[in-house]
Amino acid sequence: MVRKIILDVDTGVDDAMAIMLACLSPELKVDLITTVSGNVHVDKTSVNSLKILEAIGVEDVPVAKGLSKPLLRKLETAEDFHGKDGLGDSNLPEPKLKLLEKHAVDLIIEKVMNSKKDELTIITTGPLTNLGFAMIKEPEIAKRVNEIVIMGGAFGISPYGYGNATPVSEFNMYVDPEAAKIVLESGAKITMVGLDVTTKPDTLITMEKYEEISSSKSKPAQIIAKITKKLIERYGAYALHDPMAVAAAIDRSLFKVEKYHVEVLTSDGITRGQTVADRREWMKLLDENWEKRKNVYVCVDVNSEKFLTLFMKRLVY
Ligand code: BDR
Ligand code: CA
Repeated sequence: MVRKIILDVDTGVDDAMAIMLACLSPELKVDLITTVSGNVHVDKTSVNSLKILEAIGVEDVPVAKGLSKPLLRKLETAEDFHGKDGLGDSNLPEPKLKLLEKHAVDLIIEKVMNSKKDELTIITTGPLTNLGFAMIKEPEIAKRVNEIVIMGGAFGISPYGYGNATPVSEFNMYVDPEAAKIVLESGAKITMVGLDVTTKPDTLITMEKYEEISSSKSKPAQIIAKITKKLIERYGAYALHDPMAVAAAIDRSLFKVEKYHVEVLTSDGITRGQTVADRREWMKLLDENWEKRKNVYVCVDVNSEKFLTLFMKRLVY
């Protein structure tokens, strides 16, 4: 069955790849893309999303601009990594496609509330500002969506599950921890694809894979090569965080998933945005609500070979 998707993005180099993977995968039908501030300001993440859609010739997926700053905090961006334009300073042409006039938050609510129960899946690849705000305005959306697949979190369950924004916090959770808290406590079915899986070394795009991508004639491959050129030159490899969240919506069997009670920390300092999964299974002997309190399916491992095959087949060959 084809899954109907709302994709909430802060485009961003890897968000761009997530957009391409989602739009070019027959298992998914992207109904709406919503944008948020994160990697760069929402003005840029919105234009970047249009640039990517236009570049791959997908002109029928509407894009709505969302919130420009986290719910309570000052916006912190990641231009250092994603470039001034958010797309690796690749100078992709300005898009002719236009944004919708309606606000992303209102459209998320409208789409979900007008859908049948379990008809829509939301994939988020940026800070959870839009979704958190939408849930305050219309809490019912948590019960109506089929699932929310979140790129975010660092759980310390795999050896790679430590932070990137702080030693213990992942960027999307760090930027808007209050919004993340609202979403995690909403009661929706939630799957988190965090750094435990997205930074697993054999899923990274290495120089060898980059060369394979850049020598491909496919349009998406050419775009990937352009937007990741500076990253590969600088770091020698890069992670496919956001495409991996899309992959979790396409084929769950690529992942090993465990259900936990997860909390996101909202205090300032080094633990801001840390995601803590309670793994004390013996607690169920003492706490009769132990199972009920589990709120997140956490991806703890990924079949690297199958994931990369999916990514390369859809975008490169
Ligand atoms: C996440 O942070 C952003 O920089 C990436 O786009 C990804 O969504 C990884 O921590
Ligand atoms: Ca992102």
